[in-house]
Amino acid sequence: MSLTTEIQKRRTFAIIAHPDAGKTTLTEKLLLFGGAIQTAGAVKSNKIDVATKSDWMEIEKQRGISVATSVMGFEYKGVKINLLDTPGHQDFAEDTYRTLTAVDSVIMVIDCVKGVEIQTEKLMEVCRMRNTPVICFINKLDREGRDPYELLDEVEEKLNIQVRPLSWPIGMGKSFKGVYNLFDKKLNLFTPSQRKLSDDRTVIENLDDAELDTLIGQNPANQLREDVELIEGVYPDFDVKEYLEGRVAPVFFGSAVNNFGVNEMLDTFINIAPAPKSRNAEEREVLPEESKFSGFVFKIHANMDPNHRNRIAFLRICSGKFERNKPYNHVRGPKPLRFSNVTQFMAQDREIVDEAFPGDIIGLYDTGNLKIGDALTEGENLTFKGIPSFSPEIFKEVINKDAMKTKQLEKGLKQLMEEGVAQYFTYEMGNRKVVGTVGQLQFEVIQFRLKHEYNASVEFAPMNLYKACWISSKDKKQLDEFVRSKSRHIARDKDDKLVFMAESRAWLQMVQDNYPEIEFHFTSEY
Ligand code: G4P
Repeated sequence: MSLTTEIQKRRTFAIIAHPDAGKTTLTEKLLLFGGAIQTAGAVKSNKIDVATKSDWMEIEKQRGISVATSVMGFEYKGVKINLLDTPGHQDFAEDTYRTLTAVDSVIMVIDCVKGVEIQTEKLMEVCRMRNTPVICFINKLDREGRDPYELLDEVEEKLNIQVRPLSWPIGMGKSFKGVYNLFDKKLNLFTPSQRKLSDDRTVIENLDDAELDTLIGQNPANQLREDVELIEGVYPDFDVKEYLEGRVAPVFFGSAVNNFGVNEMLDTFINIAPAPKSRNAEEREVLPEESKFSGFVFKIHANMDPNHRNRIAFLRICSGKFERNKPYNHVRGPKPLRFSNVTQFMAQDREIVDEAFPGDIIGLYDTGNLKIGDALTEGENLTFKGIPSFSPEIFKEVINKDAMKTKQLEKGLKQLMEEGVAQYFTYEMGNRKVVGTVGQLQFEVIQFRLKHEYNASVEFAPMNLYKACWISSKDKKQLDEFVRSKSRHIARDKDDKLVFMAESRAWLQMVQDNYPEIEFHFTSEY
C-alpha cells in the first residue's frame, strides 16, 4: 500500500470531557463498534479514585491500566482509528493537554444535565490553540437534562465555537423518544439497551408524514416539526470545511451507556474527521506524505518499580514510514537511537510492530534517553512546535530533607520533569526550587517516587503564587531592566527560559499595565 493510502485511511483523535460526562463509556462503545472488544465493561476507567489516593499500590495499578488504554487502535469500515486516551483525573490535566498535540481532531462529551463544565472549557482552550476540529456529543439524554437550545447556546458561549446540530433529540429523560438525524433525515428511536450494536433507523423523507405521529405520538411529532424548522432556519448548512478549520462543531445527541446515537456519530466521524495533518516545526512545516520519517514524543510513562527502570515513550509519527531497528536521528541527543522493542496498541493488546505510518502512535522502550518534546527523524534537525508547558496552578517549594542525597534529588526531579509529571522553576535569587502542578495529587506522586525510585526525601512548602508567566520583549534593554527591578520574582524554567512568578491576579495586572513593553505568556511557547 502506498504511503498516501496508509495516511488517508488513518484517523487519530481523543475523547475529552469533564470527569463523569461519559468518556469511558463512549470509548467502550466505540471499541465495541470497531469489534476491538466483545463485551461491555472491558474498558476500565482511568480515573484515579481520590478515596484511594494514599494507597500507592492502587495508584500504580491504575497507572498500569492507563498505559494499556493510552492508545486504542481499531478498524472500522476500512478506517484505521487511533483513539488516544486522556487522564480522567483533572490533576493530570497537563498530560491531557500534551496528548491533544498528538491528535488531529477531538470528540467532546458533554453531560446534558450539567452542561459545559470547567474542565471542558480548559480543554477547549487547548484545542483552539491549534484549531483542532471538534465534534460534540451531548450525552445522557435518558436523564432529565437541560433544554437542548440552551445547551447549544452554552457551548457556543463558553467554548467560543459555533455549533451546528446534526441530530436533534425528541424529548428527554423519561419522555426521551429518540433522535432525528438532520443530516440524512432518519429517525432513530430510543430503546434502552447496553448491548445493542445496530441502530434501527426509520427513514422519514417528509416530516409532515403522518407516520411520524404514529411512531412517536402527535405532540412530540409536532414539537419535532417545529424544532427542525427552527434549526434549519437559524443555523447555516453544515460546512465540512468550517469544521476542519476548527470554526464549527457539529453536535450529536445520545446516550452512551445505552449505546444510543453512538453509531451515527461514529459514521459521521469517519466521513468528516481529518486524516493525519501536517505538523509545524520551528524550521518548517512537515507534511505526512514526505518520504522521510519524523515524529515527536508527547508522553512518557515510567515504570515505578525501581528494579525495572524502563520507560515507554509515546511517539506520534508525523511523516514517512517508521521502521523497527533502523537508527534515527535523536535531534536533541548526542547519538542516533535505534529501537528494537516497538509496540502499537490494538485495543487492549500491545503488539510488536515493524513499521508504522503518519498518525500512528508507537510506544518506544527507552532507558532514559528521551524526553517530552523530543524529535526523531531520518536525518534532519527538526524541532516540533505545539508541545508547550502551561502555567501551573499550584506551586510549592521543594525542601530537601536529606542533604546527603542532594544529587539523587536533583537527578530524580530532573527525570520526573522530563516525563512531564510537573514543572520545575528555580528562582534567580537564592536558588529556591519550586514545583508547579495543576493538581494536588502530583505532589504526592512526586514525593513517593523520589523516595522509592531515587531514595531522596522531600517535603513541599506551600507558596502563595498565582501564575508562572514566561516573559519576553522586543526591547532587550527593557527586558533586562524588568528582570533587574523584579529580581525577587524572576525564575528560570527547565529550559532556562525567563519566568515571572506572579503572586496574584491583581498584582499581575498592575505589573502588566506598568510594563507595556514586556509580554507575559501563559504557555512556554510563544
Ligand atoms: P468519564 O469517563 O467521563 O469520567 O465518565 P464515565 O464513562 O465513567 O461515566 C460516568 C458515569 O455516567 C457512569 O456512572 C456511567 O455509567 C454514566 N453514564 C455514561 N453515559 C451515560 C448515559 O448515557 N446515561 C446515563 N444515565 N448515565 C451514563 P457511574 O454510576 O459512575 O458508574 P457505573 O457504575 O454506572 O459504571
